[in-house]
Amino acid sequence: MRASAPGKIILFGEHAVVYGRHSLVSAINLRCYVEAKESKEVLIKSSLGVTSLDFKIHPYVSYAIKRFSEKAKIDGVKIEIKSEIPIGSGLGSSAAVTVATLKALDAEFNTGFTNEEILELAKLVELDVQGRASGVDPFISTYGGAWLIPEKKRVVIPYDFFVINLGSKSTAEMVAKVAKLRKRHSKTVERIFDAIDALTVEAASKIDDYKTIEELISINQSLLRALGVSTPEIDKLIAELDELGFKAKITGAGGGGCIFGLKKEKIPPESLQVSYEEEGVRIEDS
Ligand code: MEV
Repeated sequence: MRASAPGKIILFGEHAVVYGRHSLVSAINLRCYVEAKESKEVLIKSSLGVTSLDFKIHPYVSYAIKRFSEKAKIDGVKIEIKSEIPIGSGLGSSAAVTVATLKALDAEFNTGFTNEEILELAKLVELDVQGRASGVDPFISTYGGAWLIPEKKRVVIPYDFFVINLGSKSTAEMVAKVAKLRKRHSKTVERIFDAIDALTVEAASKIDDYKTIEELISINQSLLRALGVSTPEIDKLIAELDELGFKAKITGAGGGGCIFGLKKEKIPPESLQVSYEEEGVRIEDS
């Protein structure tokens, strides 16, 4: 059986959300497609290569199979992944592949899991790989739409986005980097999280106000820089975009990955236009 799940953009609140603060997140119209076929052995095929269970090359899919097989007895499975979401770029490729794999496994082995149960397994997988995670990414890949977290309040996003991909990074590493900074400067870092929290709540209540959202994008980016998850390359690009009249920030863990901003009449050169996606995980026709 074949399933798919969307990627996401964190508009506001990454990193702070790991420590209980708000985040504003939207699913996007790029999806990851996973086919699962019952087999005698485990085989995982993706643009990263062909492996059996391999926690280095295919960590999320391998842990997804492991977690699934704790719930349902399976001898083996062939998994084939085709993704429109750039890998390790902050656009939620890991959560999308995890959620789509679990949904495809559920359909192939007739386990009858609800989406809530799939989300719970996906959150365990994220913790297996990252050690620390908010669960926001698997939530969005499961349900689609745009949400203020943790209230789970639906938000309607009235514009499209542009994204620029600066290459892949490790979410686990960036989350660990922020954890280390917090340990060394706990009061200061907690206040940065509080500031991110405040601007995220403000953004959710003024989502139609384009100018305010752009201002908050710039403030959030400065705070992410203070947390040490920006890079000289990102800072330079954001300054260049500013000259062109676009505001942008990191989306996701940072350290590389993607930056995003709001689409105007046009999008910046060498950027990709993405839009809000309503639909979460789903079964595809095989
Ligand atoms: C990663 O897309 C977002 C982070 O906030 C980590 C998480 O929420 O688990 C950096």
